[in-house]
Amino acid sequence: MGRQTAGSAAAAVDERRLWEHHLELARIGATPRGGVNRQALTPEDAQARRVFIGWGEKLGLQPGMDEIGNLFLRLPGTDTQAPPVLTGSHLDTQPSGGRFDGIYGVLAGLEALEAIAESGIKTRRPLEVAVWTNEEGCRFAPGCMGSRVFAAPAQLARMLAVTDLDGVTVAEALALVRRALPDVPARPLGFPAAAYVEAHIEQGPELEATSTTIGVVTGIQGRRRFRIEVHGENAHAGTMPRRRRRDALSAAVAMVGGLERLMDDPADVVRFTVGRFVVSPNAPSVVPGHVLFTIDFRHPDATALTRLGDQVEAVCRAHAGPCSVVVTEVALTTPIAFQGLVPDTIRAVTERLGFPYMPILSGAGHDAENVFAVCPTGMIFVPCRGGVSHNEREYAEPADLAAGARVLAEVVVQITNG
Ligand code: GLV
Ligand code: MN
Ligand code: MN
Repeated sequence: MGRQTAGSAAAAVDERRLWEHHLELARIGATPRGGVNRQALTPEDAQARRVFIGWGEKLGLQPGMDEIGNLFLRLPGTDTQAPPVLTGSHLDTQPSGGRFDGIYGVLAGLEALEAIAESGIKTRRPLEVAVWTNEEGCRFAPGCMGSRVFAAPAQLARMLAVTDLDGVTVAEALALVRRALPDVPARPLGFPAAAYVEAHIEQGPELEATSTTIGVVTGIQGRRRFRIEVHGENAHAGTMPRRRRRDALSAAVAMVGGLERLMDDPADVVRFTVGRFVVSPNAPSVVPGHVLFTIDFRHPDATALTRLGDQVEAVCRAHAGPCSVVVTEVALTTPIAFQGLVPDTIRAVTERLGFPYMPILSGAGHDAENVFAVCPTGMIFVPCRGGVSHNEREYAEPADLAAGARVLAEVVVQITNG
């Protein structure tokens, strides 16, 4: 364990360095209003990976990339055979993304490793920072794709064949990323890991509202995502009588109304979102012949997820009128609970370091929900301003980001020596 003393890794976390890394990465895919648009497997994603690998190499961290493009930076341990402890998150963003969602978990991981190395701490197990491919699921569905394939390698071929709205496959987009990173060695898919700890901004309002610095994440609510395609027929807006139309937009709007009523919840626990709505041909004088829309539906309770989600198709059919509708479920994640080693260690370390903390359930999805299937897993949340995320205004205080990284550094030291 070298000359480690309790808290030395936490003390070596450098708030300013961590903040500057955030600002520097935020330049890649920067939007005019201070956010980031760096969608999965784009040239910007490749560039962010390159910068990140460069920072790791300055520390002597060894990069490796697996078949779905998950990137790992490794700090060797004294036991070369031991499965590593993983930390990390994602570098991709939503089109209206901020500077912290995902990026924070990756940079906090790097900061933790840098602090550990600087403190002269030698861990028994190797430590690796993971950058999971396509967490956001915006360009390619489902999200959390890289961590999903890491946990279930049999899904690789199916995921590589997924296409974006332009018909580009994950395999093709990944080939571009590989070409941009020619020196990164291949890594086997789905190797054994001892534990996974992911740091993330909360993306909700609870920590800030209660002046709490650290959220010890108790679990992640479940979610179902659907793609709805409504087929009607293009027609002339001036000549076709309304009664003879097969207007896909009218039908889609009626479906959304029906779904809003189905999902109506006075307790405000159900999260129901229609986030994408694509009308074709999208021309003022053409009755729309085709609409594609998406449903993102989340709930902490598996029974409610089944009961409400299983009615989506019937509600869409009931409102289709003269159109036809195809309902495809593109992702299903059951609610999970983090227990044992990782949350217990996070709680104990947070208490020792003296940060205010609370248990918190994650409303957002995270790569941890997949890695959870293969090793002890947990998450550390830090506050973000106003609970705002998936928004260019997303903001987190440098001191809170550093606090989370301090907890993370101590947690991984403790687990890597276990
Ligand atoms: C992740 O970004 C999610 O949508 O939960
Ligand atoms: Mn995220
Ligand atoms: Mn996100």
